[in-house]
Amino acid sequence: MPVITNIADLKALHRRRTPRMFYDYCESGSWSEQTFRDNVTDYEKLRFRQRVAVDMSNRTLASTMLGQPVSMPAALAPIGSLGMQHPDGEILAARAAARFGIPFTLSTMSVCSIEDVREHVPEAPFWFQLYVMQDEVFVDELIERARAANCSALVLTLDLQLLGQRHKDLKNGLSTPPKVTVRNMLDFATRMRWSMGMAQTPRRTFRNIVGHAKNVGNLASLSSWANEQFDPRLDWPKVERIREKWGGKFVIKGILDPQDARLAVQAGADAIVVSNHGGRQLDGALSSIRVLPSIVREVKGETEIWLDGGLRSGQDMLKAIALGADATLIGRSYVHGLGAMGEAGVTSALEILRKEMDFTMALCGRRDIRDVNRDILLVPKDFEGEWADNA
Ligand SMILES: Cc1cc2nc3c(=O)[nH]c(=O)nc-3n(C[C@H](O)[C@H](O)[C@H](O)COP(=O)(O)O)c2cc1C
Repeated sequence: MPVITNIADLKALHRRRTPRMFYDYCESGSWSEQTFRDNVTDYEKLRFRQRVAVDMSNRTLASTMLGQPVSMPAALAPIGSLGMQHPDGEILAARAAARFGIPFTLSTMSVCSIEDVREHVPEAPFWFQLYVMQDEVFVDELIERARAANCSALVLTLDLQLLGQRHKDLKNGLSTPPKVTVRNMLDFATRMRWSMGMAQTPRRTFRNIVGHAKNVGNLASLSSWANEQFDPRLDWPKVERIREKWGGKFVIKGILDPQDARLAVQAGADAIVVSNHGGRQLDGALSSIRVLPSIVREVKGETEIWLDGGLRSGQDMLKAIALGADATLIGRSYVHGLGAMGEAGVTSALEILRKEMDFTMALCGRRDIRDVNRDILLVPKDFEGEWADNA
């Protein structure tokens, strides 16, 4: 077993232990993957200001998200098909998050169903992420099911009205569950731990959908149903309809423009997630960290501002907080942990991120994450680029 010291180590193990199709599904972006790459590399342009002879004892990363206490300003982002990265993946990730003291977000496109996660992780409320499907009855049922399962927030994702193309997924013939082909069988044969776990769990397809949505009779029709169901007509009145139907804490995910941030506030968002879907949708869009300052200028204090995309260390998370995010969502960093070692891997990812954030905050001369601001950073003058002038 290799020594794990950072997220890159978990990623390497994830790659070794998970069938190629699902590792690639995680570790790719749309089209040329420019935004996917920028999301990660743009953090490198920001530098910390080292401060010395400052009392660094008694530090805290504790904060709140939607009024709920969190042990650090982070939640697990919604990730589709987690149960394919590791058997029962959603349940394991939800459990690790609950034990760590941060929220877990269950995707509409999850393998374990809302009810299943609730039953297996009774100790903490989780959030439910909603994709707007064309079948309004099904959408309303999902909202009701999330309410019945005591989900404490609805996270509405707006940046996936059409599905971004990822070349590797097409070439790998990605499907949930995977098709029985010679290539897949050879791949699974070298991932015995994954294959045996999968053989032992009944959770191998999108269980929020199968048995719930109309016209989904078999697994073949499921894939085409899901791909055709995202609602291209989704607009702000529909967003408001969903907020009213839900009636509880409401988060809008997929904001990448100050004008949309303003509209999200007007639509009643308790929080927005500055996000380009991890570079999986509009390739060529700016990285989320680069647009953050303009969105902070537009709506700071009117709604909670969270950020995701490219966060691969606690240092990246601290940079986002310093630029004005109230909190972060962790995406691939925890998926690597899950694929590497299940629940223990997610916990390991969270511990790594916490330690990196805490240590860096201390050497920047701060003891409380709520006191972190732009003063701890050196930001290059052109960080926002010419784009800022057009906003
Ligand atoms: C494999 C994978 C699946 C995802 N599935 C969903 C999803 O079902 N719903 C959603 O709102 N976002 C989804 N996302 C986007 C994440 O919630 C998040 O925005 C993104 O992963 C953040 O970027 P990062 O992974 O670089 O940290 C997915 C991302 C990945 C990598």
